[in-house]
Amino acid sequence: MSEEQVEVAEAGSSNGAGGGTANTVTITDNRTGESVELPIEDGTLRATALRQLKDGPDDFGLMTYDPAYLNTASCRSAITYIDGSAGVLEHRGYSIEQLCEHSSYLEVAYLLVHGELPTNDQLATWTHEITMHTFVHENLKEFLEGFRYDAHPMGMLLATVSALSTFYPDSKNIDDPEERRMAAIRLIAKMPTLAAFAYRHSQGMPYVYPDNDLDYAGNFLGMMFKMTELKYEPDPRLAKALDTLFILHADHEQNCSTAAVRAVGSSQVDPYSAAAAGVAALYGPLHGGANEAVLRMLARIGSVDNVPSFLDGVKDGKEKLMGFGHRVYKNYDPRARIIKKHVDEVLEVTGGAGNPLLDVATELEKRALDDEYFTSRKLYPNVDFYSGLIYEALGIPRAMFTVIFAIPRTSGWIAQWLEMLDDPETKIARPRQIYTGHRQRDLQADLAVLGR
Ligand code: SDX
Repeated sequence: MSEEQVEVAEAGSSNGAGGGTANTVTITDNRTGESVELPIEDGTLRATALRQLKDGPDDFGLMTYDPAYLNTASCRSAITYIDGSAGVLEHRGYSIEQLCEHSSYLEVAYLLVHGELPTNDQLATWTHEITMHTFVHENLKEFLEGFRYDAHPMGMLLATVSALSTFYPDSKNIDDPEERRMAAIRLIAKMPTLAAFAYRHSQGMPYVYPDNDLDYAGNFLGMMFKMTELKYEPDPRLAKALDTLFILHADHEQNCSTAAVRAVGSSQVDPYSAAAAGVAALYGPLHGGANEAVLRMLARIGSVDNVPSFLDGVKDGKEKLMGFGHRVYKNYDPRARIIKKHVDEVLEVTGGAGNPLLDVATELEKRALDDEYFTSRKLYPNVDFYSGLIYEALGIPRAMFTVIFAIPRTSGWIAQWLEMLDDPETKIARPRQIYTGHRQRDLQADLAVLGR
């Protein structure tokens, strides 16, 4: 049998008992009267099983059509669980609320990548290894010098992450456990450095090298903001708030950028190139770029008085309420709830209390949650609605917001990449299509019509 025939056969049709007790569905093809009984596996049907339904011996068989994969599971994963209607988010079974309360970002990154919480020794070793790999090759500085002063830092991050693959050619050996382990450590360790270097380039300031005495978030703040002082000392409250934001952005099951990492990684490319695909997807304003778009939206609204007319514009379809809505959450994004709690604290520390944009955001949320247009579409604040207010209070420019998102999401991408590599069902991602174009046209006849 061909590989395809084996796939279809394996996907199988069981001769279930029927009668409402079997865990199957029976589908009848009314074109032929043929019926197949398909097993329900984990709430899904195997799409390839539908290929048994043909309207003739030469027919390819039925496919599913699901643009944007609205209702398609692309993989099995044990990393992140989301209950969109209940607003639940868990990583390896631990609620996001517990992790934000009791863990550090590096501990969560370990959990995502390894599947279990680390012992004290494992966390110490993990932290040491990541700390020892925060430097990047000096050539990357020259690479960054090629960008204009006003290049968007996400564009610079995209380029430098993919450039990492050229410094670690052995990472192409994706079946080598040590190469996989080192890729995880290098990507998690170097993302903050690449992010901060992009920022410093855009500011025309000298690069600040990593400081191994600082923790992960504090070191990133140092590489961003250290000036002439001999030793940068981050405010521990701000470093903690940023570390919590890193936890909140670490992974989110099969979101657009993770799906991109899995799809590109399925070609067995090196992990740095696969991560670069994630950076590219996250850049989009409908995904990670939303946090930057939210601040621009709040600034454009300007004051609480303008909120009603702005929301009217949204309801007239003139624009989107950025930071609202989610493909999975049809309830309040639990991450938004946690971030909102930290906004007041950070504004207090940074002296940004009374930020008029926070008033605008709060009024937008209040009115939207009380408006049938938004509630009927189950549009609630998502992770991006309040995060930008904290980044702005930390002195981070809006163009850097999505770069900050990419830093922690790297641990999610690498965890999902590793899980994909170990999944026996992984094949190169290659969707089918519904062809809507011309067929078998006569080139010479058409050229003649064109007088050519
Ligand atoms: C992230 O997937 C993830 O997990 C992503 C993420 C992660 O951690 O990886 O959570 C991070 O990307 C959060 C989302 C950030 N993006 C935004 O805030 C941008 C604004 N949001 C929308 O673009 C939208 O809500 C999406 C993209 C997030 C979700 O879009 P869907 O699921 O494709 O929903 P849809 O566009 O089909 O919208 C359904 C309806 C439509 O109205 P109708 O056509 O039925 O009348 O809701 C409307 C949409 O017009 N709608 C909005 C809206 N979002 C959806 N209307 C106004 N403002 C919005 N923000």
